[in-house]
Amino acid sequence: PLKQLLMAVLGIDIGGTGMKGALVDPLTGELLSERFRVPTPQKRNPKSMAKAVHKIVTHFDYKGKVGVGFPTIIKNGVCLSSGNLHKSWKNQNVNEVFKEETGLDFIVVNDADAAGYATMNYGVGKGETGLVLMVTIGTGLGSGAFYNGELIPNFELGQIPYKKFKKIEDWASNGAMQREGLEIDEWAIRFSKFLKIAELLIAPDLFILGGGLSKRYDEYKHLINANTPIRVAALRNNAGIVGAAAAVK
Ligand code: BGC
Repeated sequence: PLKQLLMAVLGIDIGGTGMKGALVDPLTGELLSERFRVPTPQKRNPKSMAKAVHKIVTHFDYKGKVGVGFPTIIKNGVCLSSGNLHKSWKNQNVNEVFKEETGLDFIVVNDADAAGYATMNYGVGKGETGLVLMVTIGTGLGSGAFYNGELIPNFELGQIPYKKFKKIEDWASNGAMQREGLEIDEWAIRFSKFLKIAELLIAPDLFILGGGLSKRYDEYKHLINANTPIRVAALRNNAGIVGAAAAVK
């Protein structure tokens, strides 16, 4: 147990609705603690979110480097497009924002890339070759692409314009279902359309579904008519946490 404690890395998966952390063994991808969740502050701005991160860090009494999956484009730790967060996130160095509040260092990667990384290394994607697309279904639609197991960072298929929507995630995500009060069936038909468009654009060999709504796949799989094989990430909602922790080398 002591060895485990020494190796534990705190992974935090930051979403538009919730922020979840757990201690992870970065070698095996196993969770070494319960998950701790705080709601994402409604403002979704840097200050309030840094405070929420502080709460998570304090909960675990954690002193090391923290791995974070963040729900925007992340390049070299900088948020390049604020996505579903407050627009003042744009061009912020996420590590600096969180470090100023907590005193700790953070390695920050895109949330869907993190979830995909965990799934490809410890989950149902292990050993899968060709082009694999991880799709996380949450407040937005995240995508993490892997070619022969290697991450291609910052695929942003949720940003494709669709009909009158600036981005298809505003129409086909869990966020859209909540906003419009859709039934799961109505939402699934939209999500299926999203997968068909993704197929046309990138011809993947496999889709892996993660994020909150992937847990309900059995309820809507009969409505999905993509031709690409689909698997549900068995790590489900923990993939983001595990992948975030794995980003800490
Ligand atoms: C962002 C992505 C993110 C996804 C899921 C989208 O709005 O553009 O970077 O992965 O939401 O959180």
